[in-house]
Amino acid sequence: MSSMANISIFVLTLLFHQSFTYKPVVLIHGIMTGSGSMEMIKRRIEEKHPGTTVYNVNRFESWSSLETMWHQVLEIGLDVANISSKHPEGINLIGYSQGGLLARGIVETFSNVSVSTFISLSSPQAGQYGAGFLHVVFPGLVKESAYELFYSRVGQHTSVGNYWRDPYHQTLYESYSVYLPYINNHIMSAKSEDFKNNLLRLKRLVLIGGPDDQVITPWQSSQFGYYDANETVVEMRNQEIYLSDKIGLRTLDKSKRLHIVTVPGVNHFSWHMNVSIVDDYLLPYLD
Ligand SMILES: *[C@@H]1O[C@H](CO)[C@@H](O)[C@H](O)[C@H]1NC(C)=O
Ligand SMILES: *[C@@H]1O[C@H](CO)[C@@H](O)[C@H](O)[C@H]1NC(C)=O
Ligand SMILES: *[C@@H]1O[C@H](CO)[C@@H](O)[C@H](O)[C@H]1NC(C)=O
Ligand SMILES: *[C@@H]1O[C@H](CO)[C@@H](O)[C@H](O)[C@H]1NC(C)=O
Repeated sequence: MSSMANISIFVLTLLFHQSFTYKPVVLIHGIMTGSGSMEMIKRRIEEKHPGTTVYNVNRFESWSSLETMWHQVLEIGLDVANISSKHPEGINLIGYSQGGLLARGIVETFSNVSVSTFISLSSPQAGQYGAGFLHVVFPGLVKESAYELFYSRVGQHTSVGNYWRDPYHQTLYESYSVYLPYINNHIMSAKSEDFKNNLLRLKRLVLIGGPDDQVITPWQSSQFGYYDANETVVEMRNQEIYLSDKIGLRTLDKSKRLHIVTVPGVNHFSWHMNVSIVDDYLLPYLD
C-alpha cells in the first residue's frame, strides 16, 4: 500500500508542478545604486517561489541613474520588451524608488510589454518635493530653491528634475518638466490615450509606501497622493488624476485591481533590504 501511496503522491506532485509555474519577474533598481541592491529580493523570490526566473536590470547604475527618465524608459523598455516577448503568459514587474517611476513609464509606453502585476515599491509616482537624499549629488541643494535648477533646460537633463514637483511653482513645473506631467496625463499629448490604455492592461497595480520613509516627500506620493498649493497632502482618491481617471487609476480601483499598501516603520533605504517586506508584501502578489 505504501508504494501505491508514494506513487500517487509522486504523480500529484508532478501534475502540480506542471500545471503551475510562476511568471518571470523583472526588477528595476533605484537612484545612485544598481542591480546589486536588488539581489536580496531576487534571491528571496527564487527561494520562496522556486522556478521563478528573475531578471535584475543592470542598466543605468550609480551615476548614470541620473540620466533622463525618458532615456532610461526607452532603453530599459527595449530589454523588458525582449523579455516579455519570450514569456507570452506575461511578466511581473517590480520597481524600487526611482525604478518604480521608470517601470510605470515602461508600462505606459510599450504596448509590446505584457505586465501582469506591477509593484511600485516606494516610488515618487506623484512627484518629489524633498531634497535631503540629493545632498550627495547636489551639495547645498534645498527644496525651496531647487526649482531654480530643475525647472530649466539644463535641470531637465537629470532624472530628478524630471519628477521634481514644487507645489509653489506649478506653472514652471508645467512648462519645464518633460516627464511626470506627461506620464500622469496632466498635460495631454498625442501619447496620452496610449499611456492610459497601456496602464489599464495591468492585471494588478500595487502601490507600496509608508509614513516613515523619510525620502519620498510627501510619502503619500508613493500612492499618488500629493501636496496641494499649501503643502497639505491630498490623498490619491481626491486627486484630479484619480477623479478624472486620467491614467486609469480609478478604473483599476473600481475593478479591484489597485492595491494600496501602507507599511509603517520602514525607512526608504530599507524597503529592498527587509526580508519581511518581500515575504509579506511582494510574494503574495507574484503568481
Ligand atoms: C532583443 O533580442 C534580440 C534577439 O534576441 C537581440 O538581437 C537584441 O539585441 C535584443 N535587444 C535588447 C535591447 O536586448
Ligand atoms: C517593442 O516595441 C518597440 C517600439 O515601441 C520596438 O522598438 C521593439 O523592437 C519592440 N520589441 C519587441 C521585442 O517586439
Ligand atoms: C491655500 O492656497 C490657496 C491658493 O492656492 C489660497 O487661496 C488659500 O487661501 C490657501 N488656504 C490656506 C488655508 O492657506
Ligand atoms: C521591516 O519591515 C517590517 C514590516 O514588514 C517593519 O515592521 C520593520 O520595522 C522593518 N525593519 C526595518 C529594519 O526596516
